[in-house]
Amino acid sequence: MLFSVKSANPARLSTPCLVLPVFEGGQLPEPTASLDAQLRKAFSKLLAAGDIAGKIGDVLLLQKLEGLGAQRVLLVGCGKASELSAKKYVQVVRHASKALVKHGQFTAAACLLDLPVKNEQARHLAELLTRTVTTLQYRYSTTKPKAAKAPELKQLTLLVDAGQRAAATQGAALGQAVGNGMNAARQLGNLPANICTPSYLGEQALALAAKNRKLLKAKVLSEAQMRRLGMNSLLSVGNGSEQSSALIVLEYQGAAAGQKPNVILGKGITFDSGGISLKPGLGMDEMKYDMCGAASVVGVMTALCQLQPKINVIGVIASAENMPGGHATKPGDVVTSMSGQTIEILNTDAEGRLVLCDALTYIERFKPKSVVDIATLTGACITALGTVTSGLMSNDDELADTLYQCGQRALDPTWRLPIWDEYQEQLHSNFADVANIGGPKAGTITAACFLSRFARNYKWAHLDIAGIAWLQGAEKGATGRPVPLLLEYLLNH
Ligand code: BES
Ligand code: MN
Ligand code: ZN
Repeated sequence: MLFSVKSANPARLSTPCLVLPVFEGGQLPEPTASLDAQLRKAFSKLLAAGDIAGKIGDVLLLQKLEGLGAQRVLLVGCGKASELSAKKYVQVVRHASKALVKHGQFTAAACLLDLPVKNEQARHLAELLTRTVTTLQYRYSTTKPKAAKAPELKQLTLLVDAGQRAAATQGAALGQAVGNGMNAARQLGNLPANICTPSYLGEQALALAAKNRKLLKAKVLSEAQMRRLGMNSLLSVGNGSEQSSALIVLEYQGAAAGQKPNVILGKGITFDSGGISLKPGLGMDEMKYDMCGAASVVGVMTALCQLQPKINVIGVIASAENMPGGHATKPGDVVTSMSGQTIEILNTDAEGRLVLCDALTYIERFKPKSVVDIATLTGACITALGTVTSGLMSNDDELADTLYQCGQRALDPTWRLPIWDEYQEQLHSNFADVANIGGPKAGTITAACFLSRFARNYKWAHLDIAGIAWLQGAEKGATGRPVPLLLEYLLNH
């Protein structure tokens, strides 16, 4: 997909298809209004006649308008002028992009960056536009090759006011990188667990580093290396599996070596059967998505390699397959974590926290500026927050506020839950320093409380992405979230 940003007269531009915005209620945004005047009110008349109402989702393809350089015009509804928000803007872009493909228009020019969107400038609109279009292009085809043949946009020129051109060009490049990062994360998420194993994730990390030698280093710690480090909690999760567990470390260095890194840590359970605390059968296939936190780390690193910002970021993935078996961990087993804290594993299905806690201890060696972990951690998070927002928990108010703001701006929201000491009591064990489950109440919070015991030495935030990492139903598939949120944070903080 090729994006370019131009400042040209849309009336004279020669293109197979020119995309122009219209509002509901007859008012026209620029440059549609000027073109309308030049074309003797051609667009106003269509709106007045009801050929297009201008609501979001409305599109109208017009052929060969006299006096235009473009062969066709696609009018796209933007809803009411006074109500156009960034969220609605993305909807407009989705509808425009889908309509172009549907009508066989694979090369087009769009006038969508000068729209009056509340609190938004052309730079950010360009970012949202290229991100949206890039993610619309992704098709899963690895184990369904015919899907690869679906038609897609080839070239999109974005027209913008001359004064905004430089900013819009930057925004467009950023959005495309974010979109590519999301697509990389989606691909890993969608792969079945018989392909995407912990070793496979390790290979993908090494391959990404090999492609970006100057900026990115990768290493994969084997089970033997983890055992020497005392990561018995992480290792206990893979005990029942034929697949080896792995701790994957990706170091992106765009700034001086002395500059402290922000660290992101992803849960990489490539399949979560529940282990001996076996899950029910219905929908168990979706537990191939239990590595979407890890996938978001790879997605972020993919985008960083494309953008090459002057920052240091370390991505860590704690990966294992959670299976029952003769060697599997049993409810009641006690393990000693790398931190020295002992853990009573009362439920082997609460495995995400067991792999993350040792990784959190490992991460101390990087003297991080901040650590954000990303995990499909609890079904309770879906009960609490649904499929709209990630759960956000943190030991640092400023970091939590920053992540909240980044989520709002990136249209990849988070919502904070408390992790007060009162909740810690639910993790009491008579046989270890801590239990790995806290009972039926506040399951998302007690999971985070567990993690907080291993994140005392730095600023830390936890994103529970159980509700947002993938979609169910007709559009079943990984979403690529929260890659936009993470990039918004890392690139600006
Ligand atoms: N990976 C699951 C959480 C999950 C479930 C995410 C469904 C998305 C959809 C996690 O490992 C898990 O099984 N959590 C348990 C914790 C419980 C045993 C305390 C859960 O949520 O039921
Ligand atoms: Mn589980
Ligand atoms: Zn899990």
